[in-house]
Amino acid sequence: MSNSSNSGSWYETLTSTPILIATAVGVSFAAIFAVSSSNKTSEQIKTQVKEVTNVASSNTDARGKAAQAGASIMSAPSTDLAPPKDDPISASSLSQYDGSDPSKPIYVAIKGRVFDVTPKAEMYGKGKGYNIFAGRDASKGLGMSSLNLEDAISDYSSLNETQMNTLNQWESFFEKRYNIVGKVVP
Ligand code: HEM
Repeated sequence: MSNSSNSGSWYETLTSTPILIATAVGVSFAAIFAVSSSNKTSEQIKTQVKEVTNVASSNTDARGKAAQAGASIMSAPSTDLAPPKDDPISASSLSQYDGSDPSKPIYVAIKGRVFDVTPKAEMYGKGKGYNIFAGRDASKGLGMSSLNLEDAISDYSSLNETQMNTLNQWESFFEKRYNIVGKVVP
């Protein structure tokens, strides 16, 4: 990780969504420093950083194979998605799908559309690095590349152009990978 020209560096295998990860990694350090001045304990911050780093390092195992296949370090788009559903889901019912009950699916909403991210429970499940996005519409946080809980809200009206682009890229990332199970209704 210290030598960026090392052919083994994980991000060299990025091909499909380099900007997302570059943004996420770049901003995450700012985010990590920002949370240190918020009400989080240093233990919480350490856990959060560790979770995200684990996500990265668990991917390095598949790195060689992925590079050989010309694939990206990001998970490949899914080829067997179900037709998108339009079922109304209230915010409070959405909150039940936050990974705290292992028998329920895990949902993440972006711009009001609800994605079933259960196949990636190792990232969105309880105590995992991206759990803050689970059980809610986290559009603003995704646009900001923020892992702060207070940013994980549906109102993304404050995003600037760059952040809107980031949000739109996440939306398209999710569209290619996860089933849409409904839409958030007031
Ligand atoms: C140290 C900083 C970070 C590192 C090393 C990192 C690394 C990674 C890696 C390697 C993946 C691909 C996982 C896979 O496809 O299986 C990923 C996915 C992702 N990252 Fe990060 N990330 C970091 C920070 C962030 C931040 C700040 C955000 C906030 C938006 C973020 C949001 C996401 C999301 C939403 C995914 C997609 C998960 C999925 O559904 O497959 N990451 N990250």
